[in-house]
Amino acid sequence: MRPVRSAIAALATAALSLPLIAAAPHSDAQPDRLRSAAPEGFFVGTAVAGGGHHLEQDYPDPFTHDKEYRRILGRQFNSVSPENQMKWEFIHPERDRYDFGAADAIVAFAEKHGQVVRGHTLLWHSQNPQWLEQGDFSKEELRGILREHITTVVGRYAGRIQQWDVANEIFDDQGRLRTQDNIWIRELGPGIVADAFRWAHEADPEAKLFLNDYNVESVNTKSNAYHALVQDLLKQGVPVHGFSAQAHLSTRYGFPGDLEANLRRFDALGLETAITELDVRMDVPEGGVPTEAQQRRQAEYYQRALSACLAVDGCDSFTIWGFTDKYSWVPVFFEGEGFANVMTDDFVRKPAFYALRDTLKAARKG
Ligand code: G3I
Repeated sequence: MRPVRSAIAALATAALSLPLIAAAPHSDAQPDRLRSAAPEGFFVGTAVAGGGHHLEQDYPDPFTHDKEYRRILGRQFNSVSPENQMKWEFIHPERDRYDFGAADAIVAFAEKHGQVVRGHTLLWHSQNPQWLEQGDFSKEELRGILREHITTVVGRYAGRIQQWDVANEIFDDQGRLRTQDNIWIRELGPGIVADAFRWAHEADPEAKLFLNDYNVESVNTKSNAYHALVQDLLKQGVPVHGFSAQAHLSTRYGFPGDLEANLRRFDALGLETAITELDVRMDVPEGGVPTEAQQRRQAEYYQRALSACLAVDGCDSFTIWGFTDKYSWVPVFFEGEGFANVMTDDFVRKPAFYALRDTLKAARKG
């Protein structure tokens, strides 16, 4: 454990026991940015809203149109992850055509604002274009298509992406490889996962290559499957560098209290670890305004997830899946749930925001 992080749990708990400070005035003159509060070498990130569910909403593209959103994006974070803009259906809409516009803009924004980028994602069962899922390709053609995609996309941003989610959600909740809904594994067999890592490494030897999934925060059947897979891949000399837990949490369930222990066992295998998509949804209460108790509970989940990562040496990347409720995917997917982010629709900071900031500050001070 880094000395600077060792006292964090106690300090962060103390921060949470303070009265709710959501309404406290905060001027920008105060050193209140998450990125400035973070310890040296620690990356605090957010997804960059666009594509996916946003296309069905009655607002314009957040990243390109919402000035306030962009201002906060540039000021608060030192890492960004394209929410949808590097996924297959977005970046490779036709077999012979790539659309790099949105991804290029995000990478350029990141460089201008001194931020690193997490690339998301290369081998997944979801958000693949129709031409791919419904194409009648031979195994050899499919293999060629995946290799070309990885080489092209990873190669384009070589040296500019800190971490790539190479394989996303390849196990189901029972810890079985997705041999039916993942086109690559179904058609080409489990060995394609190792090849994806090899091709990504060839295209960008500097990028850290990750396995990423949800419901792997705890030591459970699914994270056990990853633990076994990592050992197998490492034995084969496959360039896999990291394991990350998305951490889409809900206050309906308890906090995964063994998150730190789970990250540690991957750390012990020599892997980096990361939290990549944290949000904490809650039931929409009557009247539509979260209660103080709900906000406090949410803040506690955010704080505990961050503290778990800070406590593990190789966990240097902590990303929230958007920062404002205005653009959250949660209400679109979970009826009756919402308010999952650290700022309101109007960018007002919630207790969860302050919990993150104060936890980072405590870790920085050591
Ligand atoms: O493609 C269908 C289209 O055929 C259909 O007509 C339309 C009707 O609703 O839906 C389209 O699907 C949308 C999809 O994005 C396509 O881009 C979904 O409705 C929409 O909800 C979806 O949203 C994205 C989701 O990934 C897809 O899985 C979200 O914006 C994005 O935040 C979310 O992000 C994922 C991470 O990548 C991986 N981990 C989980 C996380 C949350 O689901």
